[in-house]
Parts: sequence; C-alpha cells; structure tokens
Amino acid sequence: MTIKCINKKTYVTQPLLPDINNFVRHVEDIWESKWLTNMGAKHNELENQLQDVLKVSNVSLFNNGTIALLTALKAMNLPYGSEIITTPFTFAATPHCIVWNNCKPVFCDIEPNTMTIDADKIEDLITPNTSAILGVHVYGFPCNVEKIDKIAQKHNLKVIYDAAHAFSTEINGRGIGTFGDITMFSFHATKLFNSIEGGCLTYNDETLKRKIYNLRNFGIQSEEIVEDVGINGKMNEFQAAMGLENLKIFREEQNKRYILKSIYDSNLSMVKGIRVPQMPDYTTNSYQYYPIIIDDDYPISRDELHEKFNTMNIFTRKYFYPACHDYECYKNTLSVKLSNLPVVDDLKQKVLCLPYYGSLDSAVANTICEAIKSGKQ
Ligand SMILES: Cc1ncc(COP(=O)(O)O)c(C=O)c1O
Repeated sequence: MTIKCINKKTYVTQPLLPDINNFVRHVEDIWESKWLTNMGAKHNELENQLQDVLKVSNVSLFNNGTIALLTALKAMNLPYGSEIITTPFTFAATPHCIVWNNCKPVFCDIEPNTMTIDADKIEDLITPNTSAILGVHVYGFPCNVEKIDKIAQKHNLKVIYDAAHAFSTEINGRGIGTFGDITMFSFHATKLFNSIEGGCLTYNDETLKRKIYNLRNFGIQSEEIVEDVGINGKMNEFQAAMGLENLKIFREEQNKRYILKSIYDSNLSMVKGIRVPQMPDYTTNSYQYYPIIIDDDYPISRDELHEKFNTMNIFTRKYFYPACHDYECYKNTLSVKLSNLPVVDDLKQKVLCLPYYGSLDSAVANTICEAIKSGKQ
C-alpha cells in the first residue's frame, strides 16, 4: 500500500477556539467596563470556575505557566543555592524556573511506563542541601504522588508539581492539583485548555493565597505597602475571556480526542516495535498528548519515522528530545547536577508525539496509522 502525502499541513496540535461571536461579546464587555487587566471581573470569574473544574480549594491565575511556576518556587522560600530534585524529561521551563530561583536542578531518572520522575530513585539524590522535589505529570501521566509525599515528609522537603499537561486530570477522583504543596497548570495555546497564554497555581494551604497574590503583582499589598519582591504575573481580561469560553467546550474537545485515541490505539497496539503508554486505571486522562515509543525491534528508528512524516506534511514532535540535561546551557555547567539517567537517555531517542486534536480528520489519523504499520522509510 502506498502512503499518501496530506495536502494540508498537519501539526501535532491545533488550538482550541471557541465561537468567535462569544469571544467578541466578552471584548464588548471589556470595552464597556474599561477594565483591561489587574484582577478584573472575568479574571475573578475564571478563578472561581477553575476551582470547581480542577477540584481544588485555591486557584491563582497567571499570565503564563512559566511565571506561575517561577512564583510557585519563590512562594516556597527555598534556600539560596539549594538543590531541587526534578526530571530532565520535560519542557525547558521546568529546570529554567529552578535556576531563575537561584536553586540547582538535580536531574533524576524516570519510570519507563509513566515517564515521570522515578520516585524510587529520589532518596539516593537527597543531600543536606536538598530543599524540594519538582515532579512533572508529563503528557498527563501522574507522578507517583503517594511515594513522593512520603519521601518529602520523611526528609522535610517541599513538593511542587508541574501539571502543564494534566488539565482536569484526577487521581482516584481527586484533582491532581491538590497533591504536594503547590501545582502549576499551563493554559498556553498548545494546551488542551487554553487562555491564549496563561496558567495557574493551585494549593491547599489557604495562607499561601496572600503571598501568591503579592508575588504576582510586584509584591504590592496596598497603595503604600510593597511587602514582597514580586513580579508581573497578572492574567489580563482578554486571556480570562478566552479561558471562560474554552472552559465551556474543553470537555467536548476531550470527547473528540477520546475517539481519536481509539483509532490510534486499535491500529497501533498490535504493531511490532510500537509501544503505546496507557494511563493507570485510577487516573482520568487529560488527552493532552498521544506519545508512542518506537522500540529497537521496529524496522526504522524514531528519527526516520519522524522524517518520513515530515515528507507526508505531517509534523509529529520528538517531545522530549533533547532532554534538559542535553541543552547547551546545562551541558558541562555547575548550574545543574546529573545522576545516572539510563531510562531518559533511552526514551528520548524513541518517543514521538502524534497529531492529537479534536478536529483532526479521522482519515488523516488512519493515514498516520497506515504509515506506522507499513514500517518503511
Ligand atoms: C511541562 C511544561 N512545563 C511548563 C511549561 C510552560 O508553560 P507556559 O508555556 O504556559 O509558560 C510547558 C509548556 O508550555 C510545559 O510543557
């Protein structure tokens, strides 16, 4: 069978877009109110609604996930120069936020199935200088939150989660943003739920609210009192409007991705050399990414398959290659600490994220499956 080249470029994702008329109505409101940013009505409404959707007790909105994560670490008061155990199998923002907080990322290996930080390897990396663990729920797969919690309690460490890929994920019916001390979600355009750019922090400790409120707004507590060395992390009303509209349609998007996942799963689960990681059954799926692993017994390499898709006008992504410890800025520097990383070093060569968005034509999904099943370059 010959594999078709798709006429229209197909990317790994497409942003979720609400009905433009609904968005325009929000813009008209904003014009009317003349309130563009600084914790406006739409911002506050989105914060309230997210509390229910994410099943968390506290939500603080941000202008993007990176500033939210930067602020989360700042709010934890981690000692200058202390070590934070994290995963290198993530997006650049995760370790960068640690370094911007004058702390040192200590890269830990990952579990082969969930690709999240391997909780069994964390304790070996703890030193008197360790202040926190930063886990990433990569592709929406949950970290081993129970084990991480136990380690953190035993060694008196803070726990921060990067849940950029895990919007609306639940573990045994509990919102994923309720684990650890603080969790960051990203609402970037590429995420399942987007507010164009945006993000939030969720946390159980009510007393963090004031601290985060201050840090997000230059540290300003009142007209004449600047309490903290803060930053500008405020979400504006246009972003919040997009968020409010996308909240109405993200479940429908998840349903569409569920159907797409069924097409991929049924076609790919029997292909020799292709592994499709599955969510544990106690977890709900966010449907953020569809990663596959191209093992050594598949006829061509991950890079060859990626290249083949490029020639077909289908743009898959090698998330997360390179891994963070391979970056120029972290190679041969003292700003990070490496451990033995055999699983990361293996999987970074084998993982490929397939196009995954509700409006992806099922014919294109089937063409993608046929291309993988053919096993040819
Ligand atoms: C794992 C991870 N962490 C952090 C971020 C940063 O979020 P943002 O783009 O909203 O700043 C992203 C993606 O964008 C991400 O994928």
